[in-house]
Amino acid sequence: MYKDRWKNSEFLIELHQVQFDPNDFLGLIKRYKFKQYINAYGNTTPQELCYEKELLEESVVQHYLNVLKDFDIRQSDVNSSLSSYPEKTGLKGWLVKSDMSREGLQLHRDMNRQASIIFPLTFPQSINLHESKDSGISYTYEYSPTIIVLNSGSQWHSVSQEPKIRYQFQFDCYNSWEEIKEIVQKSRL
Ligand SMILES: [Fe+2]
Repeated sequence: MYKDRWKNSEFLIELHQVQFDPNDFLGLIKRYKFKQYINAYGNTTPQELCYEKELLEESVVQHYLNVLKDFDIRQSDVNSSLSSYPEKTGLKGWLVKSDMSREGLQLHRDMNRQASIIFPLTFPQSINLHESKDSGISYTYEYSPTIIVLNSGSQWHSVSQEPKIRYQFQFDCYNSWEEIKEIVQKSRL
């Protein structure tokens, strides 16, 4: 299962077995408002987020919370950390709108979550994986209409400049990467 160096590896796992149609989420993009995302260092980013409470009540979000119920899905915010996770908002999912036309996302690891379960909604879009902080880009993963679990708390990643605005839906996941691999195998996800 983990034979590929990049997909289904220590970096990311594709959940091919989970049925997913990005169109099911596209209506949400039109109905919800996004707010500029300020990162953990207090800097603006090319990302806008939507984490309205009502979003969680949407049937499509409820559906995937149920499908993925074996994962420890919680919502982080900028005050969250891996060691002391506060249930600040009680939310578990969010929409992400990214405009990388002027700048991409800097090399980083996520500070406040172990992993992210990512639903790519528009295409093309990609993410750069880095073997280490100093390795440069090791692999550019092109998203397809497949949900992935990204080891975003442990593995360095970045996003290059992209001309088109892109959208994702994400759940924050607090299992360790070892647990995540077990859950995927056990539940045949
Ligand atoms: Fe990240």
